[in-house]
Amino acid sequence: MDEGVMRTYARADEVFVAGHGAVLRDAEGREFLDFLAGIAVSALGHGHPGLVAALRDQVGKVVHLSNLFRHPYTEQVAARLCRLTGMAAAFFTNSGTEAVECALKLARKVMHARGTPQRCSFAALEGGFHGRSLGALSLTHGEKYRKPFGPLQPCTWLPPEDQDALARTLRGQQPAALVLEPIQGEGGIRELSAGYLQAARELCTATGTLLVHDEIQCGCGRTGTFLAAQHAGVVPDVVTLAKPIAAGLPMGACLAGAAFADTFQKGEHGSTFAGGPLACRAALVFLDEYEAGLAAAVAARGAELRAGLPQLQREFPIVREVRGRGLLLGLRLHHSAEAVQKELYRQGLIVNTTAGDVLRIAPPYVITAAQVQQGLRTLREVLARFPAAAPTTPETKQ
Ligand SMILES: Cc1ncc(COP(=O)(O)O)c(C=O)c1O
Repeated sequence: MDEGVMRTYARADEVFVAGHGAVLRDAEGREFLDFLAGIAVSALGHGHPGLVAALRDQVGKVVHLSNLFRHPYTEQVAARLCRLTGMAAAFFTNSGTEAVECALKLARKVMHARGTPQRCSFAALEGGFHGRSLGALSLTHGEKYRKPFGPLQPCTWLPPEDQDALARTLRGQQPAALVLEPIQGEGGIRELSAGYLQAARELCTATGTLLVHDEIQCGCGRTGTFLAAQHAGVVPDVVTLAKPIAAGLPMGACLAGAAFADTFQKGEHGSTFAGGPLACRAALVFLDEYEAGLAAAVAARGAELRAGLPQLQREFPIVREVRGRGLLLGLRLHHSAEAVQKELYRQGLIVNTTAGDVLRIAPPYVITAAQVQQGLRTLREVLARFPAAAPTTPETKQ
């Protein structure tokens, strides 16, 4: 496997050839329950009939135009995303990383326009992940991601939940933007408190720092509200989205509030492919389904998982903590989650690991109540095979 492909991922040898709903089928016909959705992407699951019909139709009409031409779908998706997020304008991208790049450039441009171009640094949180391009990588905390690629953009790292450190940095260093994930995904499904999100909002307003919420993993309805920060009633200046936004087609968006919607002038940012008719047609199917009832389904299935996972924690000492919200959940174990993940996979349940000791659970939004119970049963069977181990991860290391 992996012939001719750069070895940036440890890919499984399994080849999935088809799927329906939250089930994936391999080349031998074996079925797996998908509790991962391609890392929090395939919100409508696999083989969704409405998506298949819309894409077939769109491929026969027009796939690509470039951003030199208007298209109604692009504008419809922008309008609907702005309505759902409280933002005023969208820049479409092909990935989450590009949406973060757009947000960083937008913050720099705002500082130039204000006559404070020296405000060029960024603040981000320890444990945060924002992508791997040189700009986004500068804010991605993990040393393993950044070390081989320096020098990067200047960034100050803040411990999550420490409001004093946040105030000191924003007042003292005057960064262009504070960038944070309301729920850290790659950092181990770690949710920021409503109090911290609200304090960050107030401090950013007071210091003229742009507040950028990276909702690429936790946004687009995955936690029960369209944006995860809506649980805390916080509206950022800029929000980045991607992953489920076009139900599996590559797409992201950087959305800016009214005060920043006209920041870029012609030519200051761009993309050949982004926001094209095919991806936008898929995004419209996703948004239609989301607003027609999937939002309620996410809340219901999330509540079922949130009821079942603490039971596993009570039964199996290997389980240290249940994290997350809606359909973005984590089971933090007392040691590396890799062996458990591999055994789950052998038993037909797809999850992955994040931050080393966390099993990430991020199923398609269309997962059924019966499939949630099936997944919980498989988790129970597999966790029972792993004896309690003495904690090897110090409490402070996340
Ligand atoms: C919060 C967050 N930001 C940015 C990214 C990068 O997105 P992409 O891989 O689509 O470029 C990810 C990907 O996992 C993410 O979880």
